Amino acid sequence: MKDKFFEATTMPDRDWWSTLWPDPKQVLSDLGITPAMTVIDLCCGDGYFTAPLARLAGGNVYALDLDPKMLDLAKAAVARAGATVKGWIEGDALELARQIPEPADYVIIANTFHGVPDQTGLAAAVAQMLKPGGRFAIVNWHKRPREETPVLGKPRGPRSEMRMSPEASRAAVEPAGFTIEDVVELPPYHYGAIFRKNSA
Ligand SMILES: C[S@@+](CC[C@H](N)C(=O)[O-])C[C@H]1O[C@@H](n2cnc3c(N)ncnc32)[C@H](O)[C@@H]1O
Repeated sequence: MKDKFFEATTMPDRDWWSTLWPDPKQVLSDLGITPAMTVIDLCCGDGYFTAPLARLAGGNVYALDLDPKMLDLAKAAVARAGATVKGWIEGDALELARQIPEPADYVIIANTFHGVPDQTGLAAAVAQMLKPGGRFAIVNWHKRPREETPVLGKPRGPRSEMRMSPEASRAAVEPAGFTIEDVVELPPYHYGAIFRKNSA
């Protein structure tokens, strides 16, 4: 199981994470997620985004992570928010199509894609789980040197050389059957690349 974890994707400590992302619900809205959607939170971590997502999407959410400890934290975060989800899945993101029982309108992966060894393969697995015209959003750190992205006085985020530009994200995802639709700035250090699944 351990070798399935993507590189450099440990859940950050909550103190600086909540300083960096003071309004996670707004981030989800900026990414175009609306209450009518069924959404998959891929690599959900401790639920920092899952809890507001569950509220926003009225519980039409599946949350997946490989780490059972993260899922326990995420379940608690969703319960604290007074929300519910349709399913919690302990498993490998690359195998999501085998694990989630219905196609989704939207798949989000936040702060994890930089560490995926086969990024186009993951995008292909996501495409299998999306309805026609569904969206895939990748939230990534901008490709800036790590020393230039401090939070609470310390450099944060993945190593500089692992970071991806929006163009690099596009090059990884479009061959799996997507077309880039938008790149949303998520200040101070992130962007969200939003892809639309091509029609068959
Ligand atoms: C940096 S955290 C991001 C969590 C959340 N998306 C956020 O932005 O707050 C990355 C998460 O990916 C999970 N992860 C790493 N490799 C995975 C894999 N192969 N399949 C599913 N989850 C994985 C880790 O357990 C961790 O919880």
